[in-house]
Amino acid sequence: MHIYDIITKKKHGEELTDSEIEFFIKEYTAGNIPDYQASALLMAVCLKGCTDNETATLTQAICDSGDVVDLSLLGDGTVDKHSTGGVGDKTTLIVAPIVASLGAKVAKMSGRGLGHTGGTVDKLESFPGYKTSLSPEDFLKQVKRIGIAVIGQSGNLAPADKKLYALRDVTATVDSIPLITSSIMGKKLAAGSQSIVLDVKYGSGSFMKSAEASEALARCMVDIGYKRGRRVSALITNMDVPLGHAVGNILEVKEAIEVLSGKGPTDLREVALSLATEMTKLSLGKEALTARRMCEDAISSGKALKKLVEWIGEQGGDSSLALDTSKFPSAPCKREVLADRDGYITAMNTEAIGLASVSLGAGRVTKDDVIDFTAGIIIEKKTGDAVRAGDVLATLYSSSEERLDEGERVYLSALTLGDDRPEELPLIHNVISK
Ligand code: URA
Repeated sequence: MHIYDIITKKKHGEELTDSEIEFFIKEYTAGNIPDYQASALLMAVCLKGCTDNETATLTQAICDSGDVVDLSLLGDGTVDKHSTGGVGDKTTLIVAPIVASLGAKVAKMSGRGLGHTGGTVDKLESFPGYKTSLSPEDFLKQVKRIGIAVIGQSGNLAPADKKLYALRDVTATVDSIPLITSSIMGKKLAAGSQSIVLDVKYGSGSFMKSAEASEALARCMVDIGYKRGRRVSALITNMDVPLGHAVGNILEVKEAIEVLSGKGPTDLREVALSLATEMTKLSLGKEALTARRMCEDAISSGKALKKLVEWIGEQGGDSSLALDTSKFPSAPCKREVLADRDGYITAMNTEAIGLASVSLGAGRVTKDDVIDFTAGIIIEKKTGDAVRAGDVLATLYSSSEERLDEGERVYLSALTLGDDRPEELPLIHNVISK
């Protein structure tokens, strides 16, 4: 079998066989196919697409390219959640303790921030001492004991995806439904949970700009999961505006704790409760209304917050911060960004807001950059809000005035102000399930 022939076949829009796809993944992961040939094949896939069978085979091959986690010891209630990436998206910190407090088993591997989007692992490291790496035995033991453990991605989970994603990032081959499906579902299948809830974002802060494209992606991922014997559903959620008010690690952790305390912004609370409800339905076999009520009760009774405190402490973090968030350190410098006119915020370029927070120090420009956990943004006015000249649009937090200058410039470039209130978009566009 030759990679040249496989590229030619896909270039002409022909369907690849299972063994051709498996050959590509195996040999590319082993370093026997050079990046330039892999790039050519990825571009052909972007342009010609894949059949359902090709996507399913590619997903399985990516899953099988490294370790596959066996969670069978934990029973049938294992549940995972994956967001396609957003700005201000701290929902894992809310939903994981909610569903764990209800008896589901959350054995989760999360990522770090990437580009303009934040990552759960970085947020968790805002708790001094939190261990983002556990041995497989300790990881399983913790989930068994307290129902929850969240760590960074294990070194050898879906290594094919690690190589392919890095290549796609620099060859303009990210936005392809079969490639995104196989990348996300390959990792999720390898991570072992029986139930998987996907939060598929659309809008200016997402790589899928329209709800329709996100829906097509979600359907593809849900189908693949079911074909592989998992229960999967997907929420299509709006990322045309950041979720909640806080962007940046400690600021986001504090906001997540507010929601777990029965307060917090309504959009964040609603997306978190909807995700937690889906997770409870799938993993504990509850009806929608019962599941929703259980999740709301977990917050109002304080059970979910108690589970967060237990989880952070169990994984070595300073859990006293979760009980008194005023003990978190704060940034030495802050600046209010002011409106220069009356009107409405008619649009927010959410990707640019994510980049503003990166420039304040909350994210990385290169993968070795050190994060400033205190840096970030508290957004005061969002799309649809009326503003008067001189109103505070947002407060920026950082380590220096120079960083604040850059953050303010980028933040202001992300906003459009106009005279008319824009049409309100739904927060949750659709739920895709079987
Ligand atoms: N996230 C992933 O893990 N993979 C993709 O291809 C896109 C987003």
